[in-house]
Amino acid sequence: MSLSGKRVLLIVAGGIAAYKALELIRLLRRADCGVSCVLTENGGQFVTPLSLQALSESKVYTGLFSLTDESEMGHIQLSRAADLLVVAPATANLLAKMAGGLADDLASTVLLATDKPVLVAPAMNVRMWLHPATQANMATLERRGVHVVPPGEGAMACNEFGPGRLAEPPELLAAIESLLNPAPLPKPLAGRHALVTSGPTHEPIDPVRYLANRSSGRQGHAIAAALAELGARVTLVSGPVSVPDPAGVTVHRVETALEMLAACRAALPADVAVFAAAVADWRVDHAAAQKLKKLPGAAPPALTLLPNPDILASIAAPGPQRPRLVVGFAAETTDLMANARAKLARKNADWIVANDVSPETGIMGGAENVVHVITAAGIESWPRLAKDAVARRLASRIAETRSVQQFHGGDGAAAALEP
Ligand code: CTP
Repeated sequence: MSLSGKRVLLIVAGGIAAYKALELIRLLRRADCGVSCVLTENGGQFVTPLSLQALSESKVYTGLFSLTDESEMGHIQLSRAADLLVVAPATANLLAKMAGGLADDLASTVLLATDKPVLVAPAMNVRMWLHPATQANMATLERRGVHVVPPGEGAMACNEFGPGRLAEPPELLAAIESLLNPAPLPKPLAGRHALVTSGPTHEPIDPVRYLANRSSGRQGHAIAAALAELGARVTLVSGPVSVPDPAGVTVHRVETALEMLAACRAALPADVAVFAAAVADWRVDHAAAQKLKKLPGAAPPALTLLPNPDILASIAAPGPQRPRLVVGFAAETTDLMANARAKLARKNADWIVANDVSPETGIMGGAENVVHVITAAGIESWPRLAKDAVARRLASRIAETRSVQQFHGGDGAAAALEP
């Protein structure tokens, strides 16, 4: 496979396996991949800058404060000039620094400053690898999206046996190739239109105050992105959020529940609708046109609340415009399953994605989610996953659903209920 035009920044840390980095550079150059190297101080005990430079045919970077390096290419630029950062061998120490966000040398600084994908190939003594500290660091890094080529098993330089050997260079090359030339994703949702709601709604009290909730929009936005990745045309109706718009998605920004309902109706027909927004259940009757003032001696204003329309229930109501698959969320702090099942029936949804949003779970506004997918056929509980991963799983479940696969157009027939 050709890696022409691609560039890898190879970080070589201190370990007996550093010699394998030389062979990896040779394989990368043979695949026409540009290689720059960062050699840590400890790495320099095992291989020399000169051998890395000769094989990579590029300058080797060693020190954070080298003036020449800084004038030619600062560490920030160095961290972003490559398509992929590869750490091979990755020592327990460097992995711990990455997990902890430390930046006390060029390698760790570049890894903290990069906006490019990172692949690590750990190599260390078996006990160091199996130590709970190293395993916890690896779990943290993987959760953040760092790619890993795990160490192999075998006799080690330290006369012990077990996992810890650096993967062989051809295996590292294959991992690099699949990251730099990923196989095109299948597009099972091509030709389908998906409607997604996300974020909170803001219900005005007066021009400067509003009722809201802690929803960040992360989960809904990730679902919109995942559906688009599978080829769907996606309309995302979003309340006020600070997360960026997902790529390749049409975004309608709204403030209130009434605006969200109007935008959803305007987006129909849709084949699939996912209601991930945390819609405010109530709005203030007669929001003040001017800022409410505190008058000396006067009682605080009494707010009269009106119920907001239920957007999910109104779009899921039987009729010619009903999407074939309607997925709701249930954010609960008590009786998760019972409440979620009741919402499935009450709102005429096909699936409910239930999650416990009690403050101690850290889910509301956080980066991870623990969900249970409830359908007429049963309940599927998923492990704690990054919200992106929940979104990708949900999108592929949607793509596998018969009603979505078979449907073209809108005849209002009941949706299939299998997950
Ligand atoms: N929902 C909606 N419109 C509303 C309220 C909720 O579309 N006015 C949707 C949410 O997007 C979610 C589902 O309904 O998909 C359940 O929302 P949730 O906040 O869990 O429940 P509520 O219906 O608000 O009920 P309660 O507050 O009693 O839990």
